[in-house]
Amino acid sequence: MTIILVDQDLCTRCGICSNACTMGLIDPADENTLPKIPDAKAGICIHCGHCEVFCPSQALLLNDRLDEKVPLPAGAGIIEPDAMGYYLRKRRSVRRFTKDPVPKERILELLDIARYAASAGNGQPVGWIVIHDPKKVQNIAGLTIEWMKTLINSDHTMSGYIPILIGAWERGSDVICRGAPHLVVATIPEGNPMAQTDAIIALTHFDVAAPAFGIGTCWAGFVAMAATSYVPLQKELGIPAGRKSAYAMMFGNPQYKIYGIPRRKPLEVIWQ
Ligand SMILES: Cc1cc2nc3c(=O)[nH]c(=O)nc-3n(C[C@H](O)[C@H](O)[C@H](O)COP(=O)(O)O)c2cc1C
Repeated sequence: MTIILVDQDLCTRCGICSNACTMGLIDPADENTLPKIPDAKAGICIHCGHCEVFCPSQALLLNDRLDEKVPLPAGAGIIEPDAMGYYLRKRRSVRRFTKDPVPKERILELLDIARYAASAGNGQPVGWIVIHDPKKVQNIAGLTIEWMKTLINSDHTMSGYIPILIGAWERGSDVICRGAPHLVVATIPEGNPMAQTDAIIALTHFDVAAPAFGIGTCWAGFVAMAATSYVPLQKELGIPAGRKSAYAMMFGNPQYKIYGIPRRKPLEVIWQ
C-alpha cells in the first residue's frame, strides 16, 4: 500500500516532508518526481503523521484512516506563555469533590486529548478503564485497604504508614480515593517495556487538560500500587487479559476553587 498520497498540483517540492519524517523514509521530490517512500522502507513507517502535518501546502496525506484527518483551524491552540505559566502552576491535586457526576461525554473529550500524547515509537499502547460508578470507586478503595492489610508486619516500604491509613478508613475517612466519584486506570500490554512511561505521559495529559474542563484530578497512588499485584482488585477493575494497570487517577468536580500558587523547591539546574 502507498503510505503517503501527494497531490502533485499542491506539492511545492519544498522537502519539508523528508526532513520532518521521523524515520527518514521519504525520498525528496525532484523536478520529475514527487516525495515518495520506497516500497522497501514502507514497513518502517511508524505512522506518526509528521509528513502530513508539517506540509505547508497541505499536499500530503498519510494514507491511513483518511476520514480521521483532523483540521487545524488558523490560530487554534496558541497559548500565551503567561497564561500557560499560570495554568500549569495553578494545577493542584484535588481531594474534595462534589457529588455531581462528570458526564461520560466530557470524560471522552478528555481521553480523546490524551490520545495525542507522545508514545515510544508512536506505539500508542495505552488503553483506559473508567470507573464511572461512585459505588464501584468505593469498592476499589475498600479492596486497596484489604491489600494494605496483607502488608502489615511485612518489609514493604509502606508498612509503617499502613496502620494509619487503615485506621482512618475504619473511622470512615476515604484516604484512598478521597470520595472521588470516578477513577480512570491506564492499562498497557504486559511485556512492553516502554509502555509504562507512555501511560504516565498519557495520564499526565489527562491530568493537565482536566482543569480546562472544570474537572479536578488526583493521582491514585495507593490504588495503582495495589493494582500491580492484588488479584481481587485487578478483577474489580476489570483489567483485560494480557494487559496490566499502569497507573490510576481519581477525578470529579472539585468542591473548592483555587486562590493561590503554593511554594515549591527552588530550581535545581546544571548547565553544561
Ligand atoms: C505518582 C503520584 C502518586 C500520588 N498518589 C496520591 C494518592 O494516592 N493520594 C493522594 O491524595 N495524593 C496522591 N498524589 C498527589 C501528591 O500528593 C501531590 O501531587 C503532591 O502533594 C503535590 O501537590 P499538587 O499535586 O497539588 O501540586 C500522588 C501524586 C503522584 C505524582
